Amino acid sequence: TGYTTLDQGFVNTASTKSAITYIDGDEGILRYRGYAIEDVAKNSTYLEVAWMLIHGSLPTADQLGEFEEKIRRHTLLHEDLRSFFSALPKDAHPMSVLSSAVSALSTYYEDSLDVHDPEQVEISTIRLLAKLPTIAAYAHKKSLGQAFLYPDNSLSFVDNFLKMNFGNMAEEYEVNPVVSKALDRLLILHEDHEQNASTSTVRLVGSTEANIFASISAGINALYGPLHGGANEAVLKMLGEIKRSGEGVEKYVERVKNKEDGVRLMGFGHRVYKNFDPRARLVKESAHEVLDSLGVKDDLLDIAMELESVALADDYFIERKLYPNVDFYTGVIYKAMGFPTRMFTVLFAIGRLPGWIAHWREMNDDPKTKIGRPQQLYIGEPAREWPSAR
Ligand code: CMC
Repeated sequence: TGYTTLDQGFVNTASTKSAITYIDGDEGILRYRGYAIEDVAKNSTYLEVAWMLIHGSLPTADQLGEFEEKIRRHTLLHEDLRSFFSALPKDAHPMSVLSSAVSALSTYYEDSLDVHDPEQVEISTIRLLAKLPTIAAYAHKKSLGQAFLYPDNSLSFVDNFLKMNFGNMAEEYEVNPVVSKALDRLLILHEDHEQNASTSTVRLVGSTEANIFASISAGINALYGPLHGGANEAVLKMLGEIKRSGEGVEKYVERVKNKEDGVRLMGFGHRVYKNFDPRARLVKESAHEVLDSLGVKDDLLDIAMELESVALADDYFIERKLYPNVDFYTGVIYKAMGFPTRMFTVLFAIGRLPGWIAHWREMNDDPKTKIGRPQQLYIGEPAREWPSAR
């Protein structure tokens, strides 16, 4: 009915109104609830930003304290979920583990999945924020064949996460404050990015009144792809390949420009940013800080910097307005922190979770929300006669 216009990839069409995040892609501006990302990243914490994204303004000290305390009380997973992890192969990709476990979480809380009950939505929010890091750390430990570590609720959110990943049963674990601060900052930089593919997925699934665990699990699967969150893993693979091949950065860039085998410069380009990605600048600063303070010398950082400078001076990238995006330098930092490559997108998912929740709730709170149901332009056969002799 009416006019149907084709907008493949939603290049021009807004799917919703939203008051959460503002982006000006030409100017390289990103704001959470009106606050510049540079200020947020410098002054806040992951959980404070999560509260702000979900509720619309900064929390008071009491509100934040109460929120942190609630999350601390929900970090444990149901003990039965341990057998869920053991049922999966050792080399299961942690993103598949993450989405499946989040989907499975809803089965433990079937009495609190009513999307119209604010109290049930609130407790599900707390459960998701508290348990996703535990699931992620279990996925990591499983891949190493090491024992799972229960959450340590005497620690901050990020320190507990680091301990669950890098601690072991035999020794005390000491958190490195530089790593902790840097990880908190990286998580903040990933917290929201308006209607990207995974957030739009969360909204689309949520528009059917599917529960929040089902919606977020779908978002995690959308994030998995290498054109979205999976790019941070793909960047590190690309840098490793360049190093191993010994062919040099220029040769690789030539291959990208010639679109050989569809190869792209991973961590470059963005649908919205056509000048620079403000997150990428902040991440690059962190990369130097973290590697310097850990005393890590990584050839891959040198290759990344060379790749960036060669690409930024090349007409192919200039004409197409392709710049490093948030994923370009994160992998080098995660690697220096000790995370295996396959965990990188999981870290992105933990970062993005508050944004997904904020969007799901914004959509759910809006009485004008309708089920998401895109149109199509049919290009198939016209009506045909069913063959009589078959
Ligand atoms: N390397 C080489 N060429 C590229 C790249 C790249 N990374 N990105 C875009 N182009 C070219 C593309 O080939 C096309 O050229 P032509 O007109 O000659 O065909 C032109 O630039 C426009 O590209 P597009 O695919 O139409 O752009 P898009 O807005 O649909 O895609 C993107 C955006 C992010 C998917 C894309 O830039 C890309 O694939 N980048 C690499 C993957 C990546 O780093 N993704 C992370 C994005 S940021 C964080 C996140 O969302 O997770």
